[in-house]
Amino acid sequence: MADFDLFSRRDFMKGAGAFSAVVLAMWTGGCEACLKQIQDRPMRKNIANLSASDPIVQTYKAAVAAMKGLSSNDPRNWHNQANIHFNNCTHGNWFFLPWHRGYLLYFERICRQLTGDSKFALPYWNWTAHPAVPDVFWDTSSPLYDPNRGVTQTTQADPSWVGAPVIQNILSQTNFELFASGPPIGGQLHFATNTGMLEGNPHNNIHGWIDSSDMGSFMSPLDPVFWTHHNMLDCLWVDWNINLGNSNTNDPSWVNQQFHDFFDENGNAASITVIDTVLYPIFLYQFEPCAPNEIQSKKTKAQLQQFLKQGAPSKWQVSKHFELAQSVRAEVGKTATGSIKIEPNAFSGALESSGKTAVVLTLSEVEIPEKRDFFVRVFLGKRDVSAQTPIEDPHYAGSFAFFSDEAAMKKHQAADAAAGRPKAGFIVNITPTLRKLSQAGSLSGKALDVTLVPVPYEHRNAVGQQVILGKLDLKLASF
Ligand code: C2O
Repeated sequence: MADFDLFSRRDFMKGAGAFSAVVLAMWTGGCEACLKQIQDRPMRKNIANLSASDPIVQTYKAAVAAMKGLSSNDPRNWHNQANIHFNNCTHGNWFFLPWHRGYLLYFERICRQLTGDSKFALPYWNWTAHPAVPDVFWDTSSPLYDPNRGVTQTTQADPSWVGAPVIQNILSQTNFELFASGPPIGGQLHFATNTGMLEGNPHNNIHGWIDSSDMGSFMSPLDPVFWTHHNMLDCLWVDWNINLGNSNTNDPSWVNQQFHDFFDENGNAASITVIDTVLYPIFLYQFEPCAPNEIQSKKTKAQLQQFLKQGAPSKWQVSKHFELAQSVRAEVGKTATGSIKIEPNAFSGALESSGKTAVVLTLSEVEIPEKRDFFVRVFLGKRDVSAQTPIEDPHYAGSFAFFSDEAAMKKHQAADAAAGRPKAGFIVNITPTLRKLSQAGSLSGKALDVTLVPVPYEHRNAVGQQVILGKLDLKLASF
């Protein structure tokens, strides 16, 4: 067994459940070499801390160059890898994290195979610690360069998307759907129908902010930054799920979902089963800490494995519900307010006790705008705000952005003419902001003003665009 190579075993990921069966047998079966291999599994590191000559950067460059050089018949070819995303990526629903985790895993294995660097671990871009696109992506002679970026080497991502307090708030969500997006609405997998806070804010904003061509489209994997961006999201999922001990959903439609969209290091078709992906980070790779306040899980291996496989219900029980039935329309650069009638003290329970009850704002039937050169800020209990209102304002409740693709939408519509242009949905936990306002005595009892501010990305031409930000619902939810 000494030469057993966990990371190249060919039947490792083939077929449903093969992954867990194989690794669990190794883990519990007392194979010393296997245990050591799991313990020494490759470490995914922050690329912004690596110099251009670091072996990880060198391998990444060589792998991207090799993929760009493969024939267009080879599914590992750079463009073909991006096409996997264009055709199949899941967004705005709870398959977002596992689908991209599987996509990255196979990509990492292809990088190893094409470079011979069998221990290569895909680096991540920690935008919280380094809000500008890292230096290694800016050498114009490097395969890591993409000329289609709208930002420069010094442009910084906005703290309302990636700042430490924002990421901490996202990591403090205990409900899987708020953290990781909810079940797809209307069976729609590709266009955001139920977008949670990690995806709607840092994920979508980084895509849209970098540019409206490669990174801002479903061909975004053409920009080598894409893989390091998604690796950061994967790292935050590990932190939320494994280190902080929050449960993924145990809904069978999530657990048992399979995707057959991938290709392995030899160019053979490969699949994932969602429940297997929750185990990847404990068997196949690990992360250098990426969260603002990283803690280590105190669970033993056996407890951890059981916890991860078990999950927990993620469905909310909605005990009160107030809505604004007409759609909120806004113009980019200006604000729009929806005033939602509520019962006095409707939310007092959730505001007094932290934890299992929350007030959640959902936006539904949002029209995915044609030009996505802006993001949206949400303020509560205040109409008089603007794109310049700082996020430290106590009325600020969160941000979200759009990530979509016109060509993919057209293709989808052609395949399903009845479906029409897909509508989007977002969920934001507004409890912390409501609590602050109620403690300051600045909540009126009878209505809650929700002000939406579409803020244009700097140096982009979004101002003036009319957007439909959909229906607003306030839900008192217990988890
Ligand atoms: Cu499928 Cu960040 O994209």
